[in-house]
Amino acid sequence: MSAMPHTIDAPAVRRYGAPALSADLQAFAADVRHDLARVPKRLNPKYLYDDLGSALFGAICHLPWYRITRAEKSLLVQHRAAIAASAGPRVRVIELGCGTGEKLQVMADAFVSCGNRTEVHLVDVSRLALDQTVNALAGTRLPVVCHRMTYEEGVARAALGRTDEAMLVLFLGSNIGNFDPPAALDLLQRIRAPLVPGDRVLLGVDLVKPDAELRLAYDDPLGVTAAFNKNLLVRMNRELDADFDLTAFQHLAVWNAAQSRVEMHLLSTRRQTATIYAADTVAAFDAGETIWTESSYKYETGQIGKMAALTGLEISEMWINADARFALALMTVA
Ligand code: AVI
Repeated sequence: MSAMPHTIDAPAVRRYGAPALSADLQAFAADVRHDLARVPKRLNPKYLYDDLGSALFGAICHLPWYRITRAEKSLLVQHRAAIAASAGPRVRVIELGCGTGEKLQVMADAFVSCGNRTEVHLVDVSRLALDQTVNALAGTRLPVVCHRMTYEEGVARAALGRTDEAMLVLFLGSNIGNFDPPAALDLLQRIRAPLVPGDRVLLGVDLVKPDAELRLAYDDPLGVTAAFNKNLLVRMNRELDADFDLTAFQHLAVWNAAQSRVEMHLLSTRRQTATIYAADTVAAFDAGETIWTESSYKYETGQIGKMAALTGLEISEMWINADARFALALMTVA
């Protein structure tokens, strides 16, 4: 271990005449400054999703080695009629993290053809994601309401003014896997809070699978996941006036079996510093030191049941894609 500090506070690093930052960029700069000073260094995975990062994630979903999206879609196609029928005649469907709207498109037909009166609520912090989903749903003629806010705020907002409509919350794509287990439980409890008995939550969860499959899913031979991860450095260089040398960082994906998570890191291939001017910080790296950029927790089906029970939810159905080891759990508020 080197005696060198992990970050150097450098109040004078701001470039003379640098433009004032927007509130979003100020928050990004503050998080970068704080999280690169931690040991180990880390960055919040939400920053992976700028426009390019979202496009790269879209490409990941098409990779043969990343099976979550296809496995979930095939379960949705198989069971959408049952899901729509279970929701009752009047329903508010709330999708958390709507992406490009593909999953809701798959579900929409089922809601229309079973004659439910359905209102769709989209919850996402990304304006682009909300716009893309609204466009994707245009042909369905379902009424759509957008909530550009966090998941728990969005569910609470979507529940306002309801009378006899049931709520069906879609939390798909194994997005829950990007929260560590206590945070995942806390989030589910906050999502559950505005719901009433009989309301439902449809949760898509990736399951534990062989190490080799997981490593290929998160370190694909085409290098798309590596680009997705390294784009975080590109983003800091562009938005925070940083000078990360992209040739001196490598994508690293490791399966941490003890914690049941795939960790994504950016590994510094040499001893170096990077200055993030807009965050007034210099980060110093030893050779081999990493920035931890994401965790993807993988579950066993029993753990999904435990998490549901701790949230006041009962599992009504658990559909499994045995081949890809992916679960879709339809849970009812008890
Ligand atoms: C969005 N999320 C569920 C993806 C996952 O599998 O954790 C993000 C991702 N990271 C690398 N590849 C895909």
